[in-house]
Amino acid sequence: MSSKLGRINVKLGERMWNTMRKVFGIIGSPRRNGNTDILVNRVLEGARSAGGETDLAHLDELVIEQCDGCHRCWKEKRCRWQDDMVEIYDKIAESDVIVLGTPVYWFGPSAMMKGCLDRFVFFNGPETRSMVRGKRVILVVPFEDEDLGTADPLMDMFERSLSYLEMDLYDTLLVPGVTRKGEVRDKSGQMDRAYEIGRESVTVR
Ligand SMILES: Cc1cc2nc3c(=O)[nH]c(=O)nc-3n(C[C@H](O)[C@H](O)[C@H](O)COP(=O)(O)O)c2cc1C
Repeated sequence: MSSKLGRINVKLGERMWNTMRKVFGIIGSPRRNGNTDILVNRVLEGARSAGGETDLAHLDELVIEQCDGCHRCWKEKRCRWQDDMVEIYDKIAESDVIVLGTPVYWFGPSAMMKGCLDRFVFFNGPETRSMVRGKRVILVVPFEDEDLGTADPLMDMFERSLSYLEMDLYDTLLVPGVTRKGEVRDKSGQMDRAYEIGRESVTVR
């Protein structure tokens, strides 16, 4: 559930702005201080600059079992796997903005990000859908190729899946042309854009 209690609505002229949105970043690259890590953290920095509260998970340090389609979660509102994904479900439910970061791996997301997304079946239940409906998602995707089309299959998968779950794909940061660990720091335009996306996500309604 989106955290209404955590928000302070400030009236500026005729517009209401939420200034206490919770932003939760999920990093789906095993490379610490790599491009995904740096960019997701930059988005969170931007969110904090505008009063957002942020939290972060690195999937590589979590135990996330594979969804096997038992659909017990739809009946019991509880996954059969009581692993680290349980905390991710809670964090997603209490956050207003979710930042999903993954490098392009073979034209798709990393396996750990896909495994996490597979477990979103939990949110596809008749009673759990409301936990994510309308929630803002920011996608952060660095990759080596200079051709933006390299990310098309990955984008198609996320767009369809998030739309299916009635989530709001609020913004996407595709960063082509980065290969070496941390190389994205040299791309000041992309770093600025990451910061701006984070800042806007907690200020723009
Ligand atoms: C297993 C693997 C598969 C990859 N597949 C692609 C690919 O299909 N297209 C591409 O442009 N880059 C590909 N890359 C390069 C990464 O997307 C790129 O190095 C990215 O910046 C890594 O992000 P990170 O530093 O957050 O791990 C691949 C890298 C790995 C390790």
